[in-house]
Amino acid sequence: KNIAIIMGGYSSEYKISLNSGNVVHRYLNKERFNTYRIHIFKEKWVYVDANEKEHPVNKADFTVNTDQGHVAFDCVFNAIHGTPGEDGLMQAYFELLGIPQTSCDYYQSALTFNKRDLLSVLKPYGIKSAPSYYLNLGDPIDEEAIIAKVGLPCFVKANKAGSSFGISKVHEKENLRSAIDKAYQEDDEIIIEGFLDGTEVSVGVITYKGETKVLPITEIVSENDFFDYEAKYQGKSQEITPARISKIQRDKVEEMAKRAYEVLKMKGYSRSEFIFIEDEPYMLEMNTTPGLTTESILPQQAEKAGISLEELFTSAVDEALN
Ligand code: DAL
Ligand code: MG
Repeated sequence: KNIAIIMGGYSSEYKISLNSGNVVHRYLNKERFNTYRIHIFKEKWVYVDANEKEHPVNKADFTVNTDQGHVAFDCVFNAIHGTPGEDGLMQAYFELLGIPQTSCDYYQSALTFNKRDLLSVLKPYGIKSAPSYYLNLGDPIDEEAIIAKVGLPCFVKANKAGSSFGISKVHEKENLRSAIDKAYQEDDEIIIEGFLDGTEVSVGVITYKGETKVLPITEIVSENDFFDYEAKYQGKSQEITPARISKIQRDKVEEMAKRAYEVLKMKGYSRSEFIFIEDEPYMLEMNTTPGLTTESILPQQAEKAGISLEELFTSAVDEALN
């Protein structure tokens, strides 16, 4: 089978995606699959061969002409974080072309990538989240109203982005406006959320051998003011798996993450973030193409569950082909 590993993307997360994609390429079972690295950038979609030579992708049917001949793909392994790989665009394209792919479908991708919409859809299912305030580019910014709703400190976030790009923790009213400007650099929608002062955990839920499987939970301890880019990617945090939480907390958050996955009819990988207030988990967001490097949270969780990287990636392809 020919597997296209798509990586890169159009967002600030492209470098992280290249790391994820290269790790997938390294570990995906070579005896069963012919693997092709495909870079998806705004300027070009190309197959990058073993000699780093680039071959353009035919966008009409997602095929490539390599030095060895014309190649069509049986499955796409999606390693793109952010747009267009995590927000439904690539998913819709592959669904139209009839090529199976490893992440959830276009609607689930679009919904989960939109933090506000995800949290509001899950709310009736008993999944709580922080008080929030939503802004569209051009909306008047009423600082009093925002603070009255969410309190201080608060988090200003791009509504549709990842890896903490555009996120600020705001302690004083004077800093709200610059934080909003920064978030608008990443997205034209903003979500401002009240600060939840509690233990943060990350819960991986995947489909594995046909079943929904919750992976061991990771506790996030940031050395910075929050789990920002530096904390995530430059070692300024500890990621402790299994999390040091009580059995009550673990049972609750596992059940909640699984409920969210099943209510949304998810497929493939997901990694949801929660913060505990007492024993009650509050959801922050869900990532549907989570980081897949050897240091990333979901692969570490899988390893703790006895699932090697090769198994994790290979099973995703098997699920997509099923
Ligand atoms: N958005 C990053 C890659 C993650 O969720 O791991
Ligand atoms: Mg995220």
